[in-house]
Amino acid sequence: MFSVTATAIDRDDPLAGLTLGERPEPTPPQDWEIVEVRAAALNHHDLWTLRGVGIDASRLPIVLGCDASGVTADGREVVVHAVIADPDGGDETLSGDFSILSERVDGTFAERLAVPRRNLVAKPAGMSFEEAACLPVAWLTAYRMLFTRGGLRPGQRVLIQGAGGGVATAALLLARAAGLHVTVTSRDEEKLARARDLGAHVTLAAGERLPAKVDAVMETVGEATWAHSLRALEPGGTIVVSGATSGPNPPADLARVFYRQLSVVGSTMGTRDELVRLLGLLEATGVRPPIDEVFPLDQAPKAFERMLDGEVFGKLVLRP
Ligand SMILES: NC(=O)c1ccc[n+]([C@@H]2O[C@H](COP(=O)([O-])OP(=O)(O)OC[C@H]3O[C@@H](n4cnc5c(N)ncnc54)[C@H](OP(=O)(O)O)[C@@H]3O)[C@@H](O)[C@H]2O)c1
Repeated sequence: MFSVTATAIDRDDPLAGLTLGERPEPTPPQDWEIVEVRAAALNHHDLWTLRGVGIDASRLPIVLGCDASGVTADGREVVVHAVIADPDGGDETLSGDFSILSERVDGTFAERLAVPRRNLVAKPAGMSFEEAACLPVAWLTAYRMLFTRGGLRPGQRVLIQGAGGGVATAALLLARAAGLHVTVTSRDEEKLARARDLGAHVTLAAGERLPAKVDAVMETVGEATWAHSLRALEPGGTIVVSGATSGPNPPADLARVFYRQLSVVGSTMGTRDELVRLLGLLEATGVRPPIDEVFPLDQAPKAFERMLDGEVFGKLVLRP
């Protein structure tokens, strides 16, 4: 079957290891199912894989892609939960052997995919396959950051760094849907205008002083925005961090953390139950993921180049 595979790791030139072509059909173990992929979305994770972050060369070749929607052999339309973990472990994201699709088993950028049966969640009828494919990584991560790890409640104030990103646009729309006051930042005025269209109450250039402090910050940018995130918080506020696109080691500014009694909280992916609740929230509110562009699977390199350029607002989707 046709697939998009990581065949080499190159920290400086990640697209050098991106290979398109035929791969063997997946052979599902017991309690796994084959999904005919209808749409798969790109994440920054796919670039990290090609750069060798979170994976070593012994796993290659491996089919890329963490996000998918599709159809099972018996015709059910499904969204695929991307977390592969011990099913008895309670919160899967805290289980020791946790991984996500394309880290240890083949990912979603292929015509077909094998996944544990419990990872299949019914796709809402009113949602397109392209929209559904955007949810299992970026949207689920944003959901857990805001509501589980961030503990935000309607009426509170949140700052979201890096307005154009997949996780950031999801956080913006979910925060609005949940009745939060939303401030976003971006390096790019055009992305700020798009964020205003999506409902951001306050839009600021990266690093700009906030008109009022916030209860929590959703942080995926890392070094470039960390100091600003700490300064933006009310005393007792919380930074929820799930990514570090611009680098993982900013100064900690510990005096500010203890004096203002700030919490720094990590967050990664989400559970199957959280994915079900996320789908319920989108069904109830009509909120849908903004899609920047849809590409046929055999034009995946164009989508990867766009993600590398950073000139993206919302999600990039591939269709086998
Ligand atoms: N822990 C998890 O489970 C999890 C899940 C999903 C994602 N992540 C991580 O979260 C990060 C974001 O993922 P994504 O898929 O949303 O990526 P993305 O769509 O590529 O977005 C990256 C965002 O980062 C901002 N950015 C990048 N470099 C920057 C810089 N030097 N200064 C300021 N802003 C910068 C950009 O914002 P502007 O252009 O608007 O300024 C862009 O919107 C990645 O590092 C990813 O690995 C983690």
